[in-house]
Amino acid sequence: MVNITINNRKIAAREGETIMEAARRNNIYIPSLCWLDGVHSVGSCRICIVEVEGARTLQASCIVPVQDGMVIRTNTEKVRKARKLLYELILSDHPRECLSCARNQSCELQKLGEMINAEGDRFVGERSKTAIDDSSPSIIRDMSKCVLCRRCVTVCNEIQGIGVLNVQNRGFDTVIGPAPGLALDTVNCTYCGQCTTICPVGALQEKDSTEAVWNALFDKRKRVIVQTAPAVRAALGEEFGYEPGTLVTGKMVTALRELGFDDVFDTNFAADLTIIEEGSELLERLTAALSGKQAVLPMITSCSPGWIKYVEHTWPDELDHLSSCKSPHMMLGALTKSYYAQKLGIDPKDIFVVSVMPCTAKKFEITRPELANDGLPNVDAVLTTRELGRMIKEAGIDFESLEDSRFDSPMGASTGAADIFGTTGGVMEAALRTVYELVTGRELPFEDLHVKPIQGLGRIKTAELSIEDPLPEYSHFGGTILRIAVTSGLTGARELMEEVAAGSSPYHFIEVMGCPGGCISGGGQPRPVDDAIREKRLEAIYSEDEGKVLRKSHENPDIRKLYEEFLGSPLGHKSHELLHTHYVKRGIYNQLID
Ligand code: FES
Repeated sequence: MVNITINNRKIAAREGETIMEAARRNNIYIPSLCWLDGVHSVGSCRICIVEVEGARTLQASCIVPVQDGMVIRTNTEKVRKARKLLYELILSDHPRECLSCARNQSCELQKLGEMINAEGDRFVGERSKTAIDDSSPSIIRDMSKCVLCRRCVTVCNEIQGIGVLNVQNRGFDTVIGPAPGLALDTVNCTYCGQCTTICPVGALQEKDSTEAVWNALFDKRKRVIVQTAPAVRAALGEEFGYEPGTLVTGKMVTALRELGFDDVFDTNFAADLTIIEEGSELLERLTAALSGKQAVLPMITSCSPGWIKYVEHTWPDELDHLSSCKSPHMMLGALTKSYYAQKLGIDPKDIFVVSVMPCTAKKFEITRPELANDGLPNVDAVLTTRELGRMIKEAGIDFESLEDSRFDSPMGASTGAADIFGTTGGVMEAALRTVYELVTGRELPFEDLHVKPIQGLGRIKTAELSIEDPLPEYSHFGGTILRIAVTSGLTGARELMEEVAAGSSPYHFIEVMGCPGGCISGGGQPRPVDDAIREKRLEAIYSEDEGKVLRKSHENPDIRKLYEEFLGSPLGHKSHELLHTHYVKRGIYNQLID
């Protein structure tokens, strides 16, 4: 420990920590803009300046480490004046469009102005950058609003390991983006949207789909059907001031009905279905391998569209490792326009399917030609959790006072296994709950059905599962040790894929989610997000699972009925047509390659 003084208060600081960290730990708030705790500290905005006794200039507290005996003042006349001046300089290159900006009331620059009691806006002149890049179906970049904090550069390069967003040009011409002249849809951006969750202003946003959804809701000829992903119910409440980790499932369903949706289905239903299809696919591949036939292992999950786009760009020769299952919301969309349309006796063309997702990459996923049936997209629009929050507010719905209600039938019932799709390790655990029981006739031998080694926010988690005394029809599995790995975030994925590509992967089954922590902190989830918030959302997801009577996908009675009435059998002809897909090889310029 080192002894420092901040604003006349003696503080025992940790050796190596910055002034900012020591101050925050002791509840002394130093205003900041570019700094993001544990993620980004490069000292680019200088808003966090403080006076340090003996130093010739003001110091950026987010990058200067504490030293024994340091005497720091955070709010002197000199600091206040300089901070306000810096703020005005940032404003001088920022459009004054706050009232119509999607970040109005949630903008960190706006909040900072309030906090430092900003008074003036003296420097009006030429602006440096105005380009708007709306080439991607998922993310919109409005460089006129960028404050050059570089958080997105850190998240894209260091946390996701993609490196699409970088500092281009210098001085007044500095801009953050792909290489000069290139738009997002011409590079290997995965559309994970992690940059949109940490952008302090409105420079990086999901592409707005609310207008398209309002138009569909007002169109009397359309039956508008909505579905919601498991992670949305664990985070939507934050848009209305609830504590992170508050489950708002019932209120969310009621709000969707009040918005005017004709049917409110649960993507969880299709998550259970995914387990049946993906589990069958895994068993098929394992059976082949154990019988000495050719089989591509490890099999890797395919629910996360950011991960899929990443692997298409980065490992185009390894696509056979991906499960052919569509992601759950695409499965549900395909069934809505076939199974449910048939039940209703209406033309699928008159159905408009909206998915509420924690994810920005899903907006891209619905545009993929491989994911259409009979010329119709499986899903017509994707709203992020944030966009749904905006729509509920715009409609004047008092979210807090809503009564709980339940999802509609026949695609609203789900098991606890589906709930945990919302967090890293969840798809794997859900699959094991079913696959192990199918093969052995017994429940997964873990307390409360949880596979502890693959839970939590660790970057790469692994486990082994020994299969003893299988049922006679699966006798070839006897003595097999199933090796599994789980990762979330694309740097872990890269590490696992290096082994896969080298042919040295020891695993049979791998789960990859494109965003750190999985869907609970997807690119479309409420801001802010950090590990403490991720943990709370994760606990909420597990409590939803543990509160269910049925906790294994193969126990879902409505899924059984779906196979009896419509699909036939898992991996059957109809399933292949509606629930499975293929992938394409892409170059780093997003061009399709052979
Ligand atoms: Fe410290 Fe930006 S917050 S330099």
